[in-house]
Amino acid sequence: MRSSVASILRNQEENGAFVASPDFAEYRYCWLRDGSFIAYALDQVGEHGASARYHEWANRAVGGISALIDRAIDWHREGKALHPDHMPPARFALDGSNVVDDWPNFQIDGYGTWLWALGQHLLSTGQDGVPEELRTSVERVGRYLDEFALSPCFDVWEESGSALHTSTLACVYGGLTAAARLLDDKELLERAESVQSRVRDSALRLGHYVKSSESDDVDASVLWLSTPFWVVEPGDHYFAQTVRAIEARLSLDGGLRRYPTDTYFGSGAWPVLTASLGWHYLAVGDVDAARRCGDWVAGHFDDEGCLGEQFGGERRDPEHYREWVDRWGLPAKDLTWSHAMYVVLCAALDDLDGSYAGSARIHPTRNQGELEK
Ligand code: BGC
Repeated sequence: MRSSVASILRNQEENGAFVASPDFAEYRYCWLRDGSFIAYALDQVGEHGASARYHEWANRAVGGISALIDRAIDWHREGKALHPDHMPPARFALDGSNVVDDWPNFQIDGYGTWLWALGQHLLSTGQDGVPEELRTSVERVGRYLDEFALSPCFDVWEESGSALHTSTLACVYGGLTAAARLLDDKELLERAESVQSRVRDSALRLGHYVKSSESDDVDASVLWLSTPFWVVEPGDHYFAQTVRAIEARLSLDGGLRRYPTDTYFGSGAWPVLTASLGWHYLAVGDVDAARRCGDWVAGHFDDEGCLGEQFGGERRDPEHYREWVDRWGLPAKDLTWSHAMYVVLCAALDDLDGSYAGSARIHPTRNQGELEK
């Protein structure tokens, strides 16, 4: 875990941005999704200064696209057609500027995850409310999520732009509840509740929470529905069935793949997802299962301490693996988000005997508890 924290800090630019992967050209950007989970991980081990620098970077990045966000909201309210290219980006250049290219940018989950991670950062550093310099961005992103919460967009895997995705809804819920608390805004809370109702009413099909409005399949990112975003309780009967279905359909050599029909680099098992599963197991008190997930991730560091994006795709589906290698080169050898989720799991495991950082850590459920109060 210490080596992962060091890797994350090495992959942070002076301005606060985290490079998604230092060795994979397509990932030399800072994603709001990856970056916000990474900042959360740092807060769990007392690296609050580095986490604060990321949030300052995100604040500047959001400030740089304020006109884009405001225009998207206005056009949507006026019923004007919006092309994904008109939407705020999923990833930024490391200097925080908007990258205009053909990337499927309209992914609202990262904006939700950012507000959630910022809320957690402020709680864990004992700050009440939003610092003045962040307020405008929090309000703007809150308005953006409010407006587009139930609009189809690309998912956390940057695919399928015409569907409503369950894990995206989870991230949006996390962001809206955080913004509602930080800004003391009842309307944002009501919006969050409508997202929660939507998940309960429409995403529960065939006895489990499904991948999206267009797919009854499983998707491992749906794990975030409970931990950390708390749309459903970890012990929820249907959520438990969802976890069983995810494990039954997506396990590969002890790790978790993204979704059954995935072909990206042959669809290996991801540390990000396997650690997420462990995090869920801790939330339901199954420490042995959580440790198994942690051990699986621990077994995939290379000799230099790098932790890749995924493992086993070359054996599982050599044809698609090769296709992606021909297109983009070998998969990311070191992925900052992989380190982060490992740190999150280790820190949560450590909480059981409290030895690593010794800092106050905020359990995701506590955020919700405070909100209800
Ligand atoms: C994943 C995204 C991730 C990005 C950078 C993509 O392959 O699908 O979830 O944000 O890589 O790590």
